[in-house]
Amino acid sequence: MARRALITGITGQDGSYLAEHLLEQGYEVWGLVRGQANPRMSRMRRLLSDVQVVRGDLLDQGSLISVVERVQPDEVYNLGAISFVPMSWEQAELTAEVTGMGVLRMLEAIRVCSGVSRGAGGPASGQIRFYQASSSEMFGQVSETPQNEATAFHPRSPYGVAKAYGHFLTQNYRESYGMFAVSGILFNHESPRRGAEFVTRKVSLGVARIKLGLAGELRLGNLEARRDWGFAGDYVKAMHLMLGAAKPEDYVIGTGRMKSVRELAEAAFAAAGLDWERYVVTDQTLHRPAEVDLLCADPKKARAQLGWEPRVSFDELVSMMVDADLRLLTNGTDPDDYDPW
Ligand code: NAP
Ligand code: GDD
Repeated sequence: MARRALITGITGQDGSYLAEHLLEQGYEVWGLVRGQANPRMSRMRRLLSDVQVVRGDLLDQGSLISVVERVQPDEVYNLGAISFVPMSWEQAELTAEVTGMGVLRMLEAIRVCSGVSRGAGGPASGQIRFYQASSSEMFGQVSETPQNEATAFHPRSPYGVAKAYGHFLTQNYRESYGMFAVSGILFNHESPRRGAEFVTRKVSLGVARIKLGLAGELRLGNLEARRDWGFAGDYVKAMHLMLGAAKPEDYVIGTGRMKSVRELAEAAFAAAGLDWERYVVTDQTLHRPAEVDLLCADPKKARAQLGWEPRVSFDELVSMMVDADLRLLTNGTDPDDYDPW
């Protein structure tokens, strides 16, 4: 019998790549979708016609219990979140509810449906394996570089705080109830399906617009911030490997290499044969109330224990995104109504 996976956040960047990967591995894939007519789902249908859809919301405990009861998954990947860091200051409570409390609701749905009682301890029978999408944002103001599984957390945004709550809760359910519950501490990962508000996609779309004469400048915030950027298609494979491991453990996933936003802009404009300094304008209003200056992964544990390695380099990723956006806009898509799918 095919293994059955339930993915929250299936309409997001990672959800789509993970669903593709699991379908390739022979899984039966179910996606949790919220709202009455989620437009991202109807677009995704073109890509993932084999995914089965269930309605539910990380804000609604009852809906999650019903979904787990109905789907009876072997594996649950909790990718749903408010994931854009600046939005977490504007809607801090919503971020806490979805990105933080949503983890609790999903874990409770699994616990209740597996019949694991409080105080029972020990391994649960018929275990549903649970993956939590933790984030390098939890490291925030970093205490050491590179960051590994033992590095202390100092989150710098309501998003990072909510993720830290979900991370500790996942560990706690593993320790309290013997659940196979793990967190992947993933560093930034990108693709042509990345939301347009994140800096890599904002830059690749900006470059494509400028190259095609649709815009004259690109406004960016802090050019000195440094991130460890990888390709989303590589990272979802690590999620799957974590749930297939013999023991439930948390892993840092990243490339181990950092680039600044300035270097990102330079590489992206160069990929289109342009000089970034002629077009990039810095804008103070895009700076954050508290910045994460640098993030850099130490992925040694994932390499040693899971055999996981990133395949796509930074330069390949940037070229892939710029080329995809040039194709997208050349095909006549209205830049204000583009469709990353
Ligand atoms: P994304 O593209 O922003 O997708 C977020 C998903 O969450 C969407 O499918 C969205 O659905 C869903 N969602 C939002 N509110 C929800 C709710 N109330 N109930 C159920 N689903 C809800 O994010 P991503 O880049 O794929 O990232 C996936 C996960 O990994 C997120 O948890 C993110 O925080 C985490 N993460 C990402 C990175 C990265 O670099 N990409 C790094 C570390 C961790 P709608 O279509 O309905 O809006
Ligand atoms: N979005 C954006 N827009 N960021 C900018 C801009 C801009 O115009 N200019 C500079 N930046 C800087 C930000 O200040 C930040 O330091 C860096 O670029 C990356 O910003 P984002 O691409 O928005 O990503 P993020 O690092 O805040 O968060 C992403 O990665 C986390 C993992 O570290 C998200 O995917 C999170 O959900 C994820 O957890």
